[in-house]
Amino acid sequence: MRFFKTFVASVLMFCVGSVGLLASGVASAADFSNHKVAVITFSLLHNREHGNPDPQEGKTVSNTEVIGNLIAKETNADLFALHTQKLYPLSYDETVDLAREEQRANARPALKEIPDVSAYDVIFIGYPNWWGTYPMAIATYLESVDLSGKTVIPFCTHEGSRLGRSQSDLEQALPNSKVLDGFECRGGDTLDSDTPDNVKEFLNDLTL
Ligand SMILES: Cc1cc2nc3c(=O)[nH]c(=O)nc-3n(C[C@H](O)[C@H](O)[C@H](O)COP(=O)(O)O)c2cc1C
Repeated sequence: MRFFKTFVASVLMFCVGSVGLLASGVASAADFSNHKVAVITFSLLHNREHGNPDPQEGKTVSNTEVIGNLIAKETNADLFALHTQKLYPLSYDETVDLAREEQRANARPALKEIPDVSAYDVIFIGYPNWWGTYPMAIATYLESVDLSGKTVIPFCTHEGSRLGRSQSDLEQALPNSKVLDGFECRGGDTLDSDTPDNVKEFLNDLTL
């Protein structure tokens, strides 16, 4: 009888657990509680001139920021945004050309502030794919801080090129960090209903 009761209780627990898992779609994110986590983002939206009509159509949150906010919520991270001293032009096309020139010149656009992440051991770095890799402002940041010994995880939004060369560029730029495989999301999909679950799944699969 006792065996039967234990068996029934186990089956019930399994069923309740499975229903919970199905309801939430994805199991809760990996345990980051023993880590101090920072999320650094760079986006065009907060680094460009604004005008009317606005080429980014009144957006208040950038694509990369949407993903950064989801990661920060799941990992209990502190968020930091990078700001270039010089703004990118109002014209999207001019910005695209300027970004290309910066990449060709291997430029290091000056940043207003360098977020200090010395107290953090896990650093997510988010950016839009610009011409196949991260914007040069990210390169400026990587050279302004010491990320050695830290776990660094990129995430990228794009319009088709995914992470491009940015994963290998990051690994090359940070030989003394543990750079994990990054997350990517098409910019137009960042607000889709399944994106939060995709982010959770990505976080769950990380081995810190
Ligand atoms: C200067 C510039 C270059 C870009 N280059 C690429 C590219 O090479 N591949 C791609 O898929 N998307 C490219 N994009 C599109 C952005 O990566 C995409 O829209 C991104 O989601 C924007 O993120 P944000 O809103 O955080 O700035 C480019 C956008 C800009 C402004």
